[in-house]
Amino acid sequence: MEIKVIAGDIASIEADAIIVNHFEGMEKLEEETAAVDRLLDGALSQLVKQGEIKGKPNEITLVHSLGKLPPARVVVVGLGKQSELSINKVRGAVAETCRWLRSKEISTIATVPQGANSNNISTGDAAQAIAEGALLGTYTFRKHITKEEDRPGEIKQVSIVGADRLKSQLEAGADKGQITAEATNLARDMANEPANYMTPTDMAETAAKFAQDYGLEITVLDLEQMKELGMGGLLGVARGSRQPPKFIALNYKGGTAKEPDIALVGKAITFDSGGISIKPSEKLEEMKGDMAGGAAVMAAITAIAQLKPKINVMALIPATENLPDGNALKPGDVLTAMNGKTMEIISTDAEGRLILADALSYAKKHGARKMVDAATLTGACRVALGDICTGAFGNNQELMDSVLAAGKEAGEFIWQMPMYDEYGEQNKSDVADIKNVGGRLAGAITAAKFLAEFVDDTPWVHLDIAGTSLTDKERGYQIKGATGVPVRTMVNLVISLAQESPK
Ligand code: BES
Ligand code: MN
Ligand code: ZN
Repeated sequence: MEIKVIAGDIASIEADAIIVNHFEGMEKLEEETAAVDRLLDGALSQLVKQGEIKGKPNEITLVHSLGKLPPARVVVVGLGKQSELSINKVRGAVAETCRWLRSKEISTIATVPQGANSNNISTGDAAQAIAEGALLGTYTFRKHITKEEDRPGEIKQVSIVGADRLKSQLEAGADKGQITAEATNLARDMANEPANYMTPTDMAETAAKFAQDYGLEITVLDLEQMKELGMGGLLGVARGSRQPPKFIALNYKGGTAKEPDIALVGKAITFDSGGISIKPSEKLEEMKGDMAGGAAVMAAITAIAQLKPKINVMALIPATENLPDGNALKPGDVLTAMNGKTMEIISTDAEGRLILADALSYAKKHGARKMVDAATLTGACRVALGDICTGAFGNNQELMDSVLAAGKEAGEFIWQMPMYDEYGEQNKSDVADIKNVGGRLAGAITAAKFLAEFVDDTPWVHLDIAGTSLTDKERGYQIKGATGVPVRTMVNLVISLAQESPK
């Protein structure tokens, strides 16, 4: 899909359909809607008067223009109450409208800058939200479907039309939206891919392609190099798998420091069977998505490379399968992580924290000043927050606040969880420095407390995306399957950190 910005008048644009809008509870039409209404001899204002157009959120009304203006169709989308409008609602409304138009076999769309200047939404924000809504909301994953039936249409072009003086703001917003949405869709593609198409080796190959396409430095460690570095966690989890593990590092250098200003770390278990502590088979296929954190950081750094903030970013992706075999890790085993700490295995199904222990140690060793990790870490987090909020855990409130703000801007909901020292006591082991399961209570927090042992005092935030990485229904710009969370949060965070401390 091409996203374009056009300086001009929505009513005189060549497109299969144009999108204007209406706010709930307003008698008067918005300026551009009113201009279109005049050319339609009052058809829209009449529909408002008759109560057919109410302006309810995501309400869609189609009017055929019958030659009265160049586009054959006018769509009025409801944006809800003006005082309650948010960028996220614009994303959702555009997404739903695009999907609806796609189902009508429409291929070119032009829209007004939906929501601009309402409720503190800037022109640029509106353009960004439109690009994101259109690209995220029409995402499909049909790579493995050979049947032509039920193939959705394709929207080839979305033009954002506004006054000439707004053109540069619209373009900047549309570009940022396009870059971050396309990165999110890359992460969705990777996480939706079946585990036999997205092995650790496939992830490393994808990373190499990203490095090439976006000019990133790449290092991929193989088994021998992991042994040299003492990555006992990653090696331990990989033992039960025939697929060789990979430790992927992608570097973006936009700053002047030698070290990474921030490390983004993503769990990449390309399939989590649970290992010897095997999982029940119900919904086990969903565990192909246990690399969603790794996919998100890989995709985020491609967007960062295009947006070019003045900051150094290191993306780390420890990748392996978690499977049972005769050589597999066993409950009771003790592993030594890269930082020398020993870990007693209570459950081989608590594998994410074992590979993250090495990745966080690696980030520390490379001098990362801050760290944010994303991981489908615990079923407990999903039970607590559902598929709505990502759980956030950290050791530094300033970085936490930046992450929460970045998530808010992205519309990726994040909720901070407590990290009292007392929770850490549950991870005490009788035979090693720490054990990998802290009991039944507060499972998401004790998992975070485990990770905290490997970051020491480096400012760090852990995002548990076990609930939010997948969704089972279409909602706004979310499509059934992998969500691509938290790609846009991470991109926003890095940009805001770069602006905070220009280097
Ligand atoms: N990958 C799972 C967590 C998960 C569960 C993600 C459901 C998405 C949906 C993780 O490796 C895991 O198995 N965690 C265990 C930890 C337990 C053994 C302490 C869990 O949550 O059951
Ligand atoms: Mn597991
Ligand atoms: Zn897992």
